[in-house]
Amino acid sequence: MADPVPFPYTHLVVNDIPHQRRVRYSGTHPRRFAEKYKEHDPVRYAEEVRKIMERGKTPAGMHRSILVREVLEVLRPQPGEIAVDATLGYGGHAQELLRAVLPGGRLLALDVDPLELPRTEARLRALEFPPEALLVRRSNFAGLAQALAAENLAGADVILADLGLSSMQIDNPERGFSFKVAGPLDLRLNPERGRPGSAWLATLDEAALVRALEDNADEPHARVIAAAVCEARRNAPINTTTEFATVIRRALGPGSGPRAKENLDLSIRRSFQALRILVNDEFGALDAFLRLLPGCLRPGGRVAILSFHSGEDRRVKKAFQTGERDGTYAQVAPELIRPGPEETRANPRASSAKLRWAVRA
Ligand SMILES: C[S@@+](CC[C@H](N)C(=O)[O-])C[C@H]1O[C@@H](n2cnc3c(N)ncnc32)[C@H](O)[C@@H]1O
Repeated sequence: MADPVPFPYTHLVVNDIPHQRRVRYSGTHPRRFAEKYKEHDPVRYAEEVRKIMERGKTPAGMHRSILVREVLEVLRPQPGEIAVDATLGYGGHAQELLRAVLPGGRLLALDVDPLELPRTEARLRALEFPPEALLVRRSNFAGLAQALAAENLAGADVILADLGLSSMQIDNPERGFSFKVAGPLDLRLNPERGRPGSAWLATLDEAALVRALEDNADEPHARVIAAAVCEARRNAPINTTTEFATVIRRALGPGSGPRAKENLDLSIRRSFQALRILVNDEFGALDAFLRLLPGCLRPGGRVAILSFHSGEDRRVKKAFQTGERDGTYAQVAPELIRPGPEETRANPRASSAKLRWAVRA
């Protein structure tokens, strides 16, 4: 098997984007996603990419996997076992899980994203794992039971779900996930299905918008923001990330005090999160996944879930506790596992991560 790319890419598999000629950009550093051609090619530009990571940044087109050591510790994958990565993303966790179940084991990797999935599969295959050991399928994890059945797998020994978004999705302006980059207000994990965020904002009634902001993101200014959206869309549709952020900024005003800008950014971030959860029915998928998990785990099988906000963590915690009470799970995480200061310094995107685990009875 080919060596994985050495540190600092322990959990970053090689990118497949072909070498490009120098992209022209103004200033000394590229600012736009597409201009960051060095970051898209971490093997050729290893030194530049290392420096970016040392500054606590995630290079464009990559994702830095979170709590990898801790995930492996709680899942304890063994040679010969069947592992599932329900949220393949960039493949960092998958790479480690697959390595641990070999020889003899297999990894079934799922993701809903039809754009990133083939890139990740190509990178993983380039690492020359036995081809039959890696099964990559585009599927919502709510369909895990069917995905296992389609591969004639009676159940899994190890299941990981690392919820939310990958950095490649967040940083790509075309996907519309971040208010920090201008792009269409899309927010779909699978842009080939459903309606983009802009279409939801055009049609949701005010009360439903308030509910989404409150239930999906605990946004304290939900009423003001929802009213502002309804007012703004009477004049013009809200089609871009920048337009949505501007509506929120105008509605809440500049604020006052030393944390005014931070608080305003938090409200914008939460509003994007609320809309994204709605667009992708993320809580519906997570609830379905939590319900079907026990049936997908072999006796003694382990599951680990990384969540990134309270709406997700509440659901995971409740499902695991209920399962422990009724005997479905033999053991569940007594407490949350969080990234330490070293990891959050190196990768600030890890700071909100919460890891919980359970063992099937
Ligand atoms: C945080 S990333 C995973 C990163 C990955 N663990 C790694 O090491 O690169 C989350 C991934 O989950 C995917 N995802 C989110 N909801 C999903 C769902 N309901 N079913 C399947 N995949 C989902 C996203 O498309 C994204 O690629």
